[in-house]
Amino acid sequence: MPKYNFDCIIDRRGTDAVKIDRLDRVFGRHDLTPLWIADLDFAVCPEITAALTRRLSHPVLGYSEASNGYWNSIIDWNLRRHGFHIRREELSFIPGVVKGIAYAVNYFTQPTDKVVIQPPVYTPFRTVVEGNGRTVVENPLLFDGTTYTMDLDGLERIVAEERPALLILCNPHNPIGIQWDAATLARLAEICRAGGVTVVSDEIHGDLMLDGRRHIPFLSVSDDARAVGVMLGAPSKTFNIPGLVSSWMVVKNPELRTRYYNWLEANEFNAPVMISTIGAEAAYNNGEQWLDDMLEYVAGNIAFVEDYAERNIPGLKVIRPQASFLLWLDFRGLRLCQREIMDMLLDKAHLALNDGSMFGRQGEGFARLNVGTPRCVLARALESLRDAVKQTCTDTVR
Ligand SMILES: Cc1ncc(COP(=O)(O)O)c(C=O)c1O
Repeated sequence: MPKYNFDCIIDRRGTDAVKIDRLDRVFGRHDLTPLWIADLDFAVCPEITAALTRRLSHPVLGYSEASNGYWNSIIDWNLRRHGFHIRREELSFIPGVVKGIAYAVNYFTQPTDKVVIQPPVYTPFRTVVEGNGRTVVENPLLFDGTTYTMDLDGLERIVAEERPALLILCNPHNPIGIQWDAATLARLAEICRAGGVTVVSDEIHGDLMLDGRRHIPFLSVSDDARAVGVMLGAPSKTFNIPGLVSSWMVVKNPELRTRYYNWLEANEFNAPVMISTIGAEAAYNNGEQWLDDMLEYVAGNIAFVEDYAERNIPGLKVIRPQASFLLWLDFRGLRLCQREIMDMLLDKAHLALNDGSMFGRQGEGFARLNVGTPRCVLARALESLRDAVKQTCTDTVR
């Protein structure tokens, strides 16, 4: 019996929530059900707000440092949840995973260097690289119409011919929600080590494995992975606290780590933020039941969407995720171009979903649906989608 209830609709207006307040800017209208950016519409575990309130009720908010309790909460969580050992010296605070990627791009590559990404993939993997004047090399995922796999032969070719300096791995992979198996990760590590490529493994969705799966941290798979890997993790998706901007990094290889961590320290890029560490510690130490209940609820939402789409929305295919609360929807059966798909979602269904093409041109024909919302909101959204698809298909036939 779940302890926590996720059915309650919480009004997020007036909280500067990007999901709501940025609708106009991103989608050109505000009368949309926001099912896009990857946070949850659920209340956080109460121990998190209690810990923050306790600290913020003290009248002095001076310089602060991360407590031993904070570091141990990350170490204990990874061991308990993933069987993954981290030593304190391998761990660093970072103020957000995207910033962690940006630090690695700046430190491990030169402006003329190439960086491999595997689209369709989380948009900042490209924008961070290009925004820092580096060149993206794509190794697109392979898709057989149902399942995505990693193109390891393609990667081997790219490493040999393009000589990239860095690869950014999404493990598990947003937007599709795939878990990479240990053999795939080990082969990727082998290829990268042989080619002198550093691997940044973004594992922000790693705590959100579905259907009883266990997360496989990149650094756990092989000596090659530990030699080349920089792992980024966070409690932000796990416990719905991205607003606290709390993330961490693990580097096992001392040769990779020592100078890099000194550089972070010299620039204070690793300087903990008071509410980030307090929120994270409370979450890791007290939030496990909340997470398990939330994942069960999200799995129910995914099944609900699958079932509804199959019975009511011909032409829509749901790609079942192995992790996280983001659903990759395949609209290609409707035979519409991307603009028509997005117009249908916005103008007819009044739904704000992420445009699949923002994850790369391989995402054309797709949209990403965030199901981290009460089921009644999802039910209404699906009814709107059903009607919009019906109307669009009628209009197209006419
Ligand atoms: C794969 C991935 N990495 C990073 C982030 C954002 O991380 P942060 O807010 O810590 O920068 C997201 C958010 O959706 C994500 O999906």
